[in-house]
Amino acid sequence: AAEDGLNAWLRYAPLPNDVRDQAHIPSTIVTLNSTETSPIYVAGQELQKGIEGILGQTLDVTHETSESPSIIVGTIDAFTAAGGELAVPELEEDGFWLSTKDGAVEIIGQNERGALYGAFEYLSMLAQGNFTEVAYATNPSAPIRWINQWDNMDGTIERGYAGLSIFFKDNLIVSNMTRISEYARLLASIRVNGIVINNVNANPVILSDENMVRLGKIADTMRPWGVKVGISLNFASPQTFGGLSTFDPFDERVIAWWTDITDKLYEHVPDMAGYLVKANSEGQPGPLTYNRTLSDGANMFAKAVKPHGGIVMFRAFVYDSVNLNENNWKDDRANAAVDFFRDLDDKFDDNVVVQIKYGPIDFQVREPASPLFAHLRQTASAIELQVAQEYLGQQCHLVYLPPLWKTILDFDLRVDGEPSVIGTDVLTGKRFNKRLSGYAAVVNVGLNATWLGSHLAMSNLYAYGRVAWDPTSDPEAMLRDWTRLTFGDDPDVLDTIASMSMESWPAYENYTGNLGVQTLTDITGPHYGPNPQSMDNNPWGQWTRADANGIGMDRTVWNGTGYAGQYPPEVAAAFESPDTTPDELLLWFHHVPWTHALRGSGQSVIQHFYDAHYAGAETAAAFPRRWEALRGRVDDRRFEETLFRLEYQAGHAIVWRDAICDFYANVSGVPDERRRVGAH
Ligand code: GCU
Repeated sequence: AAEDGLNAWLRYAPLPNDVRDQAHIPSTIVTLNSTETSPIYVAGQELQKGIEGILGQTLDVTHETSESPSIIVGTIDAFTAAGGELAVPELEEDGFWLSTKDGAVEIIGQNERGALYGAFEYLSMLAQGNFTEVAYATNPSAPIRWINQWDNMDGTIERGYAGLSIFFKDNLIVSNMTRISEYARLLASIRVNGIVINNVNANPVILSDENMVRLGKIADTMRPWGVKVGISLNFASPQTFGGLSTFDPFDERVIAWWTDITDKLYEHVPDMAGYLVKANSEGQPGPLTYNRTLSDGANMFAKAVKPHGGIVMFRAFVYDSVNLNENNWKDDRANAAVDFFRDLDDKFDDNVVVQIKYGPIDFQVREPASPLFAHLRQTASAIELQVAQEYLGQQCHLVYLPPLWKTILDFDLRVDGEPSVIGTDVLTGKRFNKRLSGYAAVVNVGLNATWLGSHLAMSNLYAYGRVAWDPTSDPEAMLRDWTRLTFGDDPDVLDTIASMSMESWPAYENYTGNLGVQTLTDITGPHYGPNPQSMDNNPWGQWTRADANGIGMDRTVWNGTGYAGQYPPEVAAAFESPDTTPDELLLWFHHVPWTHALRGSGQSVIQHFYDAHYAGAETAAAFPRRWEALRGRVDDRRFEETLFRLEYQAGHAIVWRDAICDFYANVSGVPDERRRVGAH
């Protein structure tokens, strides 16, 4: 059973016999691989194993093409060289062609990685009992589809809720690569092509000689799965680790030190993806210490990796956590990213990618899309999502995230009055004609045998890869695929998991922070349970400005922090007034009286808080009952472990409801019309 957990959505569970009987597949797998460690070789092995599990048929894997129909896997070049003819639409990097027509199966990648993706796609169809004939090409929406682990060198994980790191222990990279290989397999199946293995709050010891050797081992382990490895750097390393007296990015010794480190790293990992850098943020060192700009800092690394083909992901999560003062009505952390980066747009080297959190604050339950996406026209950019549910129930609550991501990816920034949808126009690189762009997700898989500590949370990881490949992917369709792959195709299991998951983010928003006020978790550290009081007078600039008269951050240009004006004019104009701001972002943009009537329901803000909290807790209360109905239809272990979490969530949702309702009843002095609050 533990092993099934590790296999996640790649279980290859046997299909029922009557379904198996409908499958007519070729009896040989032909792989056109170059080496034993190539993704094509791996694809052949995976196809063999998957078909054995799903259909109970043992297929031979050979290199020899023949006249009889086969499942052929290879790159387009190898396929053509072997005499194959293909009327394939244009394939882009990592793209593939899949055809199951006329009794043969063609899985042809633009490169080896693409072919492996195609093999996983074919297996996903088979595993779901889908034997329809298809013939299509598919290409990624963006070249960067990465994971960021926030794993510390001592084996703990920042915002980790599923056990210790699979990558590190005692300041060393682990020597046993088993879990890392299993993880790479999962990532390949969702078309993730890069991973940064250590925390953005980086410990320079990752650069020790021994760790460089072991990083090479990780890269060797992940390479057959098409996953490239990168690392996070600590900006001060030349001083704190290298023994120099400075880490000024303009100092020749510093530049030489980084060049040398980079060259050494590439000796061990010739295809290293690159670096991830968090600088001048939350106490981390950076170029501002020496009055150099953020771009000066980023470019120093860019120049070091450039000869090796690497890139630098430079985080836009930069803000001044020292001088923010809530007494100043115009102070606003949300302004920080655009303030810091706006004037640097033409200053970055072409292998720097600015990595931007989806919203301007920090992975909240509801945020508007970061306006920085509209300002970087010349600089490559990527979005940072979080599969780790830091502010979102930390994998103890079921919260299916793609509907949240969709609010950002579908958002149209209207740059220069033209369509500028974040997912399909900006992150594809099309809108501003960029070569590099894409996605990073913070993921906190750990040693736990379910990877994320929760069976149901895995749908978020699965969907992340699919969203990065195609940001128009339908959240419910992805969920249904994932559920069939993970739990089989019992229609009740499918419907229950799909409907609960689809209701989960709205429910969580209801019983935590409404109307764009932020999640209202304990901001002093854990970011978990309710602590609305901590959401004001804190030095992190995550404020609600709740008092007896009203609530919300005034981010208008005419009277507030000016944040609304960071958007292009059409969008800015809409956010400037409560009459044109969507209700779900009302308190993000406006400070309003408790009695302010919402556009949609006409309900007052405070009454909406009460009603939403009761509704959200009620939805969560029904989860365990709905799950109970599946007893005997899901294996006992996963059934019980999931039930345990859902019961906990139902209880914690009541804690949330009461904490938030009582707190704002006190602050506002406005009682619940329905007399629930204070009455329990
Ligand atoms: C959040 C999170 C931190 C993390 C930071 C970041 O603030 O709570 O743990 O270091 O984001 O993204 O850098």
